[in-house]
Amino acid sequence: MKTSAKTRRMVAALPALVKALVRHARAPFRSAVRRARGPVRETLSAETLSARYCYAVWLRHLVKANRYGLRTDPTSVAELGPGASLGVGIAALLTGAERYLALDVVRHANAAANLSVFDELVGLFHRRATIPDSVEFPEVRPRLGSFAFPDEILTADRLLRSLDSARVTELRERVRLDQLEYVVPWDDPAAIEAESVDLVFSQAVMEHVADLDTTYAAVFRWLKPGGTMWHQIDFRSHGTSPIWNGHWAYPDWMWRLVRGDAPINRQPLSRHLEAIEAAGFLRIACETEQAESGIDRTWLQPVWGWLDDRDLSCASALIQAVRPARPQPRIAGIS
Ligand SMILES: C[S@@+](CC[C@H](N)C(=O)[O-])C[C@H]1O[C@@H](n2cnc3c(N)ncnc32)[C@H](O)[C@@H]1O
Repeated sequence: MKTSAKTRRMVAALPALVKALVRHARAPFRSAVRRARGPVRETLSAETLSARYCYAVWLRHLVKANRYGLRTDPTSVAELGPGASLGVGIAALLTGAERYLALDVVRHANAAANLSVFDELVGLFHRRATIPDSVEFPEVRPRLGSFAFPDEILTADRLLRSLDSARVTELRERVRLDQLEYVVPWDDPAAIEAESVDLVFSQAVMEHVADLDTTYAAVFRWLKPGGTMWHQIDFRSHGTSPIWNGHWAYPDWMWRLVRGDAPINRQPLSRHLEAIEAAGFLRIACETEQAESGIDRTWLQPVWGWLDDRDLSCASALIQAVRPARPQPRIAGIS
């Protein structure tokens, strides 16, 4: 007997649906436990509690920026969605940035976590440790061809200055006293002064951002002309479906049940590229990781029928873009 596409979709969605129903059934019990225990931290992946993870993420972004000819020595850096610690930004400070601002919608990080990551990062940079690879962090992107320490970017001279012991002591004190700039919740483009930062980056965040157009426009506003943004985006279903791209097969009512507490926005690559262009950015690189689609087009919900083949098979992407520099005024008489 031939099963219809709708039936196949329903069967594939069943495990996630059952999980969601169990979660909903247990919700009143969980709230009672929370009330009894007092406030608890929101649940989120705790990757950035690992200094080696933060080191891997920052160095991979530096290597990729260098690969595409972008500056790798930003003075002023902002990060969207740092997660459980501000460790990736701390890595930026330890490699020479003078200012780091973290923006999140929930305060996940605290001084104790930041300090522990700080101390381990200092050791990693002093040892010029190799970049943690895909065996240690199979899920982390971007992938690199070589995981050797990037001596050509973090030269001996640069690290001598950035790891100067007085500088490290002063930075450590700021971390210990919880004095890093951490804007939570950020919900206003005025959260950062216009044209004040050289780099805005994010890791596994843009797939969670509710309003892409407003967010990319805010990033454009914060960047100095000539400044860059680097985003690593994960387009997979984040456990909402047993199929890596099964999240595009859910009707809205089912999605509301399975999407969980930290929902993804389900926006594919082409939507990000469109919003980036609309904000005024010039795209420098878009490195995608394509995977075989786990669903066929007949499974797509009508609202996602517009996804093109590249969207449907794009599991992750590193996007780098620049806010164009202002044209230099022409000097009369010189063409
Ligand atoms: C999957 S975690 C990634 C955390 C960290 N970057 C990492 O690599 O592990 C997603 C993070 O994005 C944050 N987030 C969600 N929406 C956001 C938004 N609109 N602006 C900034 N951060 C956001 C979440 O609170 C969380 O810290």
